[in-house]
Amino acid sequence: MAPASRLWDSPSGYGSVTRALHWGMAALFAWQFAGALLHLLADKTAIERFFWNTHFSVGFTLWLLVLVRGAWGLANLRRRPAHEGSARMARAAKAGHLALYALMVAVPSLAILRAVGGTRGFTVYGIQLSAPRQAAIPALTAPGNALHSLLGWVLLALVVGHVVMALYHARVRRDGTLERMTRGALAP
Ligand code: HEM
Repeated sequence: MAPASRLWDSPSGYGSVTRALHWGMAALFAWQFAGALLHLLADKTAIERFFWNTHFSVGFTLWLLVLVRGAWGLANLRRRPAHEGSARMARAAKAGHLALYALMVAVPSLAILRAVGGTRGFTVYGIQLSAPRQAAIPALTAPGNALHSLLGWVLLALVVGHVVMALYHARVRRDGTLERMTRGALAP
């Protein structure tokens, strides 16, 4: 088992829990967005059905994981590495991360509320979490109908921006930002 110090974040890098959450969720988001793009562009094809069949269950898993990640992030807030670059770049990075977290919570929450308030019920991994109802509850379904897809695409745009900035730090500035999330803390 990793020593406790490697589990937690430190100013020189992220610990193993943060890195596992970051890269595990990145893989699940890649899967989720591949399914969403296929749903938009190749509806009712075999490959679309293969990905889209998992949309509710993977989305629900991401919702649980982001809550765990948010709580872990708050517990590690004072230990985390400072942002690299000018004060303006650091402020932009902070705002970008806050927006990412807000959307990672809002996008699945809106869909889950809509599913719970809708007529079809809500089932994940074959387990029914909410039974079908005779009539939908508009207060639960309307926000998801209006915003789930739209904010889902905004989240994808932010994720793309996040990846571009990570590569900018790695390839142009070479300031160790990406390594802190891949390799973790540097040896003292
Ligand atoms: C972080 C997790 C999620 C992401 C990033 C996400 C993303 C998206 C995106 C981008 C679309 C638009 C697809 C299109 O335009 O064809 C979409 C549609 C949809 N999503 Fe999600 N989703 C997530 C979680 C969920 C969950 C948990 C549910 C169910 C409870 C769900 C149910 C749906 C449904 C029914 C649609 C099609 C109807 C609509 O356009 O709103 N999603 N999702």
